[in-house]
Amino acid sequence: MLRTLRSVLRFRRFELDPVARRLSRVACVEDLRRVARRRLPGGVFDYIDGGAEDERTLARNTGAFERLEFRPRILRDVGELRTETSLLGAPLPFPLVLAPTGFTRMAHPEGELAVARAAARAGLPYTLSTLSTRSIEEVAAVSRGRRWFQVYVWRDRGLLKEMLERAAAAGYEAIVITVDTPMLGRRERDVRRGFTLPPKLGLDTLLAGALHPGWTWSFLRAEPIAFANVVGPSGRDGVGDGSDPVALADYINTQFDPALSWSDIGWFRSVWDGPIVLKGVQSVDDARLAADAGVEAVALSNHGGRQLDGAPPPLELVAPVADAVGDRIEILCDGGIRRGSDIVKAVALGARACMVGRAYLYGLAVGGERGVDWVIDHLHEGMRRTLGLVGASRVDQLGPEFVRWR
Ligand code: LAC
Repeated sequence: MLRTLRSVLRFRRFELDPVARRLSRVACVEDLRRVARRRLPGGVFDYIDGGAEDERTLARNTGAFERLEFRPRILRDVGELRTETSLLGAPLPFPLVLAPTGFTRMAHPEGELAVARAAARAGLPYTLSTLSTRSIEEVAAVSRGRRWFQVYVWRDRGLLKEMLERAAAAGYEAIVITVDTPMLGRRERDVRRGFTLPPKLGLDTLLAGALHPGWTWSFLRAEPIAFANVVGPSGRDGVGDGSDPVALADYINTQFDPALSWSDIGWFRSVWDGPIVLKGVQSVDDARLAADAGVEAVALSNHGGRQLDGAPPPLELVAPVADAVGDRIEILCDGGIRRGSDIVKAVALGARACMVGRAYLYGLAVGGERGVDWVIDHLHEGMRRTLGLVGASRVDQLGPEFVRWR
């Protein structure tokens, strides 16, 4: 009996490093999300995780990937799998871009710097948000990798122009104009909690702090959170730098210009030399207008279900948009990507690459920079395995014949 017992008992070596321990116990992005939910104060988790109104679009974004099924082929020699592709004229190890996310330092004090370093290590573009908690220059100082800059269109065009000049001077490759936020969507989880940016430490948050000591300790020790791009060089009267708590809706609705229109794209061309990606395109007609306006790429996106509830899932738009403008511009797709197989689906339908936001934020919350590495590796590995299982050994072999809507 003792011999049998000895042959079957295996104790996992206790991992002393807490980050390695946490990461050794997760198998997928949804696992990371569950751990992040435990570790982050409720308000912070809900800001990241939540969507607008009834969260129908949020659910339908991931639901679209469930509805799309593979049509695998067999006996196609997948002995050598290649995930490489290209995007905006430069090579990419696999079709992924790290999406802009606001206030990244709320998830982890290393924030944008951790994400930028992880992206550079993997050879993927990192998109810095206008509403970042590290500045254009701070991110450039830690990453020589591909960096894109996301812009919201401030009423104060002088401030915007200055930011674009700073991005150009700091070697950012492309700008990503977010066009789905003329005003902020109503995120009702935030409304219920009275959530502000940065999170207020009131009575309820102190309680949350006691329940999430790891997060609270690092949050209190770190430099205060502020909108890093509007302090310092660009600090302006009437443009809050976010160091006093504000409700995001109030901030966005007063600072950003809802009058933005197609005629402004020409202005961007006059002040920005590099490629332009239009993010938040939600219809075939607008993808056509974007191509006519001469942008290099569109990102089919409903802002992760955080803006218009009832907007269509981007995955459903990929094939029709590819039919309409795929020969003129590149197509990115985000919204609900949690696995490498999701990337394969979007690419099969005609996307050049995908973007992920929440997926890496969950990783960041759980394991800092190593958590982001984990997510990138997980997506890459999943993509490679899926290519093998569907019978495509290279990305350019993928096409609509590999998938069908259930
Ligand atoms: C958001 C904005 C900041 O989705 O992009 O919260």
